[in-house]
This record gives sequence, C-alpha cells and structure tokens, in this order.
Amino acid sequence: MNVQSSFDYFLKIVIVGDSGVGKTNFLSRFIYNKFNILNQPTLGTDFQSKIIFLPKTRQNVKLQFWDTAGQERYRAINKIYFQKVQGIILVYDITDLKTYEGLDNWIKLINDNSDDVPIVLIGNKLDDANENRIVRYEEGKSYADKYGFLFFETSALSGKNVSKAVYSLCEKIISQINKTMNFGLNLSLSLNSNLLDDKKTNKKERKESCC
Ligand code: GTP
Repeated sequence: MNVQSSFDYFLKIVIVGDSGVGKTNFLSRFIYNKFNILNQPTLGTDFQSKIIFLPKTRQNVKLQFWDTAGQERYRAINKIYFQKVQGIILVYDITDLKTYEGLDNWIKLINDNSDDVPIVLIGNKLDDANENRIVRYEEGKSYADKYGFLFFETSALSGKNVSKAVYSLCEKIISQINKTMNFGLNLSLSLNSNLLDDKKTNKKERKESCC
C-alpha cells in the first residue's frame, strides 16, 4: 500500500491545554521532528496532517491534528473543534502547577462539547523535570486513571514519548471503532437470526394449526 496516498482510517484529533504547555511543539515534534524554543502563542486554531503506519494492526492511518489556542479568550471558539473528533490530546506542563489545576476546566469543556472519545493525558516538559518539576508522575497518572485516560510524560524538546503517546491514542481509537463496528455487526446478525427463528416458528405454528 502506498503510505502517501492511501489510508485505512482518517482520524481527527484535537490537542488542548493551557497556554504555554507545549501543544504546538508537541505536534511539530511528532509531525516534522522540529522544536521551536521561542514562545509564540497559537492564535485561533490550526490544523496539520500526517499519515502513519500502525504496526500492531498493520494499517495506515491519516491523522488530522487540530492545534487550539490555550489562551482563555479563545475558549469559546475551541468548542467548535470538538465536533466529530475521534480523539483528544490533553496537555499540562509538569513544571507549572496552574496548568495541572486547569485540567478540570478542560475536561468540563470536553464533556460539554464532544462525544465519549479516547483521551491521552500528557505531562509535557519532561526534559526539565530534574530542575523544575512541580507535578509528580503519580499525580498525573492518578488523574488519568480517575477518568480512564491514557497517560504519558513527554518532552517536545527531546522528543521523549511523543510518538509513543500518539500511537497509543490511535490504537485505542481504532480498537474502539472496531468494537463499535463489531457490536453493530453482531447486533444485526443476532436480529437476523431472531428473524429466521421467528420465521421458522411461524411456519411450524402454521403447519401445526393446519388440518
Ligand atoms: P499556546 O499556543 O499559547 O496555547 O501554547 P502551546 O501550548 O502551543 O505552547 P508552545 O508549543 O507554543 O510552547 C510554549 C513554550 O514552551 C515555548 O517557549 C516552547 O519552546 C516551550 N516548550 C514546549 N514544549 C517544551 C518541552 O517539552 N520542554 C521545554 N523545556 N520547553 C518546551
């Protein structure tokens, strides 16, 4: 299969979190393997795509990432981008407690505006952990466990765990899509077999009542 032109799944993924946590750099590390040390806040929203190969399922997946602005004044606009998403990357900065405490607000915004989709919680700026860590690994993990999210600590600067986090999210999304499809298939198979059973019973009843 030609990775450039064809794919088995198309997934829309939105990245959210407070301003400055590293959302834009997380994406640019994943998509272009690039990092920008300058702080240039995202204005509005931006989207970029990448096709990846998932070794576990041996499928090509086209990812469309929507990078939202973390600044409070863009919160209302961000709502629009939750429509028809298949997955969400929720980011805080392990060196900035405010961004961890701000997670509850993001979860409320997500719950109010999107379907129940897989979410990966990211504690970013892991490269700075030795000097400036404020949020412990266990705090991030237990927050993620409480909501059933995947969890990774990452560094957009070094690239550590960035791909791992995105691939894990994709695997979870695809497994959820397949489960829903199988459920639909099983439901229609069981409805069909019930219909067949009904037909057989009707025939039998008709035979028995006849003559
Ligand atoms: P908004 O667009 O305002 O919502 O911010 P953002 O979440 O997109 O953050 P952005 O990627 O612009 O990064 C903000 C600042 O943090 C920049 O100066 C980055 O260089 C820095 N930064 C991002 N990721 C990391 C990281 O993993 N480690 C370190 N040390 N700095 C990072």
